[in-house]
Amino acid sequence: MEFTAEIRKATEPIYQKISKAVPEIEWPSHAPYIYEINRLKKEKNAVILAHNYQTPEIYHGISDFSADSLALAVEASKTKANIIVMCGVHFMAETAKLMSPNKKVLLPDMSAGCSLSSSITGEDVRNLKKKYPGVPVVSYVNTSADVKSETDICCTSANAVKIVNSLDVKKVIFLPDDYLAKYVASQTDVEIISWKGTCEVHEQFNDFEINEIRKNNPGIKVIAHPECPPDVIKASDFTGSTSGMIKYVKYNQPEKVMMVTECSMSDNVQVDNPNVKFIRPCNLCPHMKKITLPKILDCLRNETNEILMSNETIEKAKKSVERMAEIGR
Ligand code: 13P
Ligand code: SF4
Repeated sequence: MEFTAEIRKATEPIYQKISKAVPEIEWPSHAPYIYEINRLKKEKNAVILAHNYQTPEIYHGISDFSADSLALAVEASKTKANIIVMCGVHFMAETAKLMSPNKKVLLPDMSAGCSLSSSITGEDVRNLKKKYPGVPVVSYVNTSADVKSETDICCTSANAVKIVNSLDVKKVIFLPDDYLAKYVASQTDVEIISWKGTCEVHEQFNDFEINEIRKNNPGIKVIAHPECPPDVIKASDFTGSTSGMIKYVKYNQPEKVMMVTECSMSDNVQVDNPNVKFIRPCNLCPHMKKITLPKILDCLRNETNEILMSNETIEKAKKSVERMAEIGR
């Protein structure tokens, strides 16, 4: 697409905002897409929801709402738009559809998965329920609709402890993230039966790396996502969801910070916090990175890659997400 003078002028304020996160040489290739996507979304009454791990040109250039997975699910239930384009991974688009079954929900790349979501099936959950009869199932929102259909209540990293405590029981099945389960177990008296799923991005971090970074950067604040292994969480100053981590930086304004999570988030948060120095871990989520401006434009223009589910699946799966949304953050 051509980078015309009109497009340069119209997108200049966006570029000024993100110039520290996007090299100038890349702008002529992004700007025409940003211009056309922003025009088309108005024409079609579409809303673009973006997860915090999306790249800066998506996060700052075209999204109407960017957030963690809990807030994306809630926003999907409230939007007045006709079309939701989910710039995130498949379970996020499915969750948006469950929250807004009458809307058209599009995912720019249908193969954008998640190692946690693919670690467990509905059949696995049915077997767990047979093994532990009567024990409620709490599923991380990073699961398929089939798993949600077998679930009593969902949770995200922002409310996992609150959801588990809300059930007022002695024992829960908590799946599929074994590390998040361990984190929750450290914060509650409820006994946790977990599953052996892990996030392929967060499992790569270790405490040795964090201790080395602390040695070389005295005074640095280390903030970690609860999908990280327990030794990493122990070595950190704060643990929270992606939005929890963003708030930590916004309100504490540390001189230096390391966000122990997916790499793009530091780029996005840097834009709004110019006085904070970010030490960047570079672990990218290969699924999140499948979402690109050309794919977003293509699916919005042609209304392709629609999330479709049977009414029966929607009815069964949405209850667990709605229960979570009622409890909130
Ligand atoms: P959040 O809900 O904290 O945004 O996390 C989602 C996710 O996939 C993290 O890897
Ligand atoms: Fe899934 Fe991990 Fe990617 Fe999040 S970062 S979408 S948990 S693979």
